[in-house]
Amino acid sequence: MTTACTVLAIESSCDDTAAAILRRGADGRTSILASVVRGQTDLHAAYGGVVPEIAARAHAEALDLCAEEAMDTAGMTISEIDAFAVTAGPGLIGGVVSGVMCAKGLAMATGKPLYGVNHLAGHALTPRLTDATAYPYLMLLVSGGHCQFLLVRGPDQFERLGGTIDDAPGEAFDKIARLLGLEQPGGPAVERSAQSGASDRFRLPRPLLDRDGCDLSFSGLKTAVLRARDAVVAEKGGLTQVDVADLCAGFQASVTDVLAVKTRRAMQMCIQQDAVPTALCVAGGVAANQAIRTVLETVASGFKTDFVAPPLALCTDNAAMIGYAALEQMDISAPAGMTLAARPRWPLDQSRPAMLGSGKKGAKA
Ligand code: KG4
Ligand code: ZN
Repeated sequence: MTTACTVLAIESSCDDTAAAILRRGADGRTSILASVVRGQTDLHAAYGGVVPEIAARAHAEALDLCAEEAMDTAGMTISEIDAFAVTAGPGLIGGVVSGVMCAKGLAMATGKPLYGVNHLAGHALTPRLTDATAYPYLMLLVSGGHCQFLLVRGPDQFERLGGTIDDAPGEAFDKIARLLGLEQPGGPAVERSAQSGASDRFRLPRPLLDRDGCDLSFSGLKTAVLRARDAVVAEKGGLTQVDVADLCAGFQASVTDVLAVKTRRAMQMCIQQDAVPTALCVAGGVAANQAIRTVLETVASGFKTDFVAPPLALCTDNAAMIGYAALEQMDISAPAGMTLAARPRWPLDQSRPAMLGSGKKGAKA
């Protein structure tokens, strides 16, 4: 039997401070009563990436404000909250510690249970919140900090089928934008420029296609774009808008092709394990890219399965996903309470070694 529960969730593992309130009714349906996200883009803009110390301080300053705003939006007081949830990792340690301390304070002051949630589980379970997707399903997480294929069989059953061995795709989009003098975040800027470009002008690689499985790599592709750019500059003394558009289109086509092939393989890997996915799901900021969405939709329809891409506000970092994951978690495990520890590295799939690619946004375990 489902118990009704109102949960206040906190997320601060990277560069967004977020708080949300979710209500699960006795009928098992969950609704988002409030979801507040305060980004830190301006604070890090001058540094070309997230500065962990600045992020941690900004989280510490914004967490209680976000929680208060969420309660105002939901029209609730703290006494009406039944449980607290917080991202306990993976992520930048200072941010995760800030969130965990804040949530512990709230739980201790109110005597209510506290649940620690894996940030990646939050992303991976979002299709169940938005689309009631049934287990098992395949989740492709593609953001500035994450890139992995997960076979999701249950609230605590995640099998990592593959992931990036170096950069995350969003990180690659951001770096390409920087190389070409486009604004940050690079994804939308590269996508816009690519619209008028010729994707076949530059011969760019399709990394790791020759390797079995569904691991990905984007760092060599980035170097290939750099070389192509330098060759144009050496020949013509600079880049025209057409050159930039062609490079963006070529880069985006390579990412799209590779994701299509690897997603097909990941689908096949699920089927071989007798876990025929009910849906192909995508989450993370890169899921905003129309070319990538289109190709994933085509892959899903090739397997005659649904394609689920939650609304962007729930695809990118937010606290509603953390609250939802906690609601699923509380059905199968006890709260962590005051023993909860921040875990900067916390692989979802404990049976596979962590994938420790470098990245502006911390661990991609
Ligand atoms: O999920 P997200 O908001 O933050 C984390 O990385 O956790 O994702 C942000 C990333 C950035 O790297 C951004 O450049 C990328 O998502 N992104 C895109 C697009 N919109 C955002 N990448 C490709 N195409 C887009 N339209
Ligand atoms: Zn994330």
